[in-house]
Amino acid sequence: MPTVLMPTRQLELRLANRMSRLGTETAFEVLNRARALEKQGKDVVHLEIGEPDFDTPSNIIEAGVNALHHGWTHYGPAAGNPELRQTIADYVSRTRGVPVSSDEVVVVPGGKPIIFFSILALVDEGDEVIYPNPGFPIYESMINYVGGRAVPIQLHEERDFSLDVNELASLISDRTKLIILNSPHNPTGGVLTRKDIRDIANLIGDRNIMVLSDEIYSRLVFEGEDVSIMSEPGFKDRTILLDGFSKTYAMTGWRMGYGVMRADLAAQFSRLNTNSISCTASFTQIAGIEAIRGDQSSVDKMNAEFKHRRDVFVAGLNKIKGFSCRMPKGAFYAFPNVTKTGWPSKKLADALLEEAGVACLSGTAFGAFGEGYLRFSVANSLENLTKALSRIEAWTAKNL
Ligand SMILES: Cc1ncc(COP(=O)(O)O)c(C=O)c1O
Repeated sequence: MPTVLMPTRQLELRLANRMSRLGTETAFEVLNRARALEKQGKDVVHLEIGEPDFDTPSNIIEAGVNALHHGWTHYGPAAGNPELRQTIADYVSRTRGVPVSSDEVVVVPGGKPIIFFSILALVDEGDEVIYPNPGFPIYESMINYVGGRAVPIQLHEERDFSLDVNELASLISDRTKLIILNSPHNPTGGVLTRKDIRDIANLIGDRNIMVLSDEIYSRLVFEGEDVSIMSEPGFKDRTILLDGFSKTYAMTGWRMGYGVMRADLAAQFSRLNTNSISCTASFTQIAGIEAIRGDQSSVDKMNAEFKHRRDVFVAGLNKIKGFSCRMPKGAFYAFPNVTKTGWPSKKLADALLEEAGVACLSGTAFGAFGEGYLRFSVANSLENLTKALSRIEAWTAKNL
């Protein structure tokens, strides 16, 4: 019998080069560090993760449980359950004012895969992608991962973190393949106005550039209105609209989101589903139909609560030495300017976690232009938000 020589040491892990270009989402790392501190007995207020603290509304839970009892436990079509796709098409037609059909909808596990798939499907090595900075870190991570050129557009506090169209004009080149918009915006809470959207659409004009419009916070607009570039004349076929269930219906753990795009591109996204996940879980999609079609009063209640918390928290931040915070118009984040503390953002965020027991994120977790800022999620109880404010205030009084 031949002798098989087994290696005595663990072999070197030879990752593909592209893995060195993959970024991450710091929120989960901070959450782990906060949990480790809690294990040592420290009390931490969690304002680092962007997820509603509410439970999923009960009508949606019931629909999901019923679906499990009624056999929705098998594979489904790659692009999504046909009834859910139609429900989403009707919802997007109504809310964005453009006719959408079900073959233009792809259901995926969360909003994130739409970012992943848009970049995988459209961006070749060397292609340029313009994306907001500060911004959701997955954009930059994915552009770098596929070998694209990440072209940040800085969002300025003096403009309430909306986008400067002249700056955008200066960044567009012959290699620009994709522009990423995100409104309401994570982490700043900025909201693009109808004029902003129109100016961006006019600027893109008839260039063959696709737009990924990340509208995951579309129902969380406190001032102004939610406007989609998809509604602009000529832009339906050039927009990939990303939306989902995580934030609107407090369904982060269900993993369900969707993209709306021209049908030929939707077919490609469906192939990406087949190659990666086969399909989104079948019973969650039945719950998704109930989420969109059912009673919306719990969404209204959660939003009213987020708005109230935002008002209290931002007012509180503005009383703290070295902090100044604009009123975010949407989403559930506060993004105060902390340059007057004299502390770099990351060092300040670390100190607040370790010394004050408040978990937040450094603005730099959202790109280089986030230096000078911190991000707090207000998706936590008023009691915890007030506790966080007094802890930060006490810490600054002692350390600044
Ligand atoms: C701007 C933005 N886009 C997409 C997502 C992803 O959402 P999901 O949890 O549905 O994948 C998030 C989540 O934080 C987000 O903030």
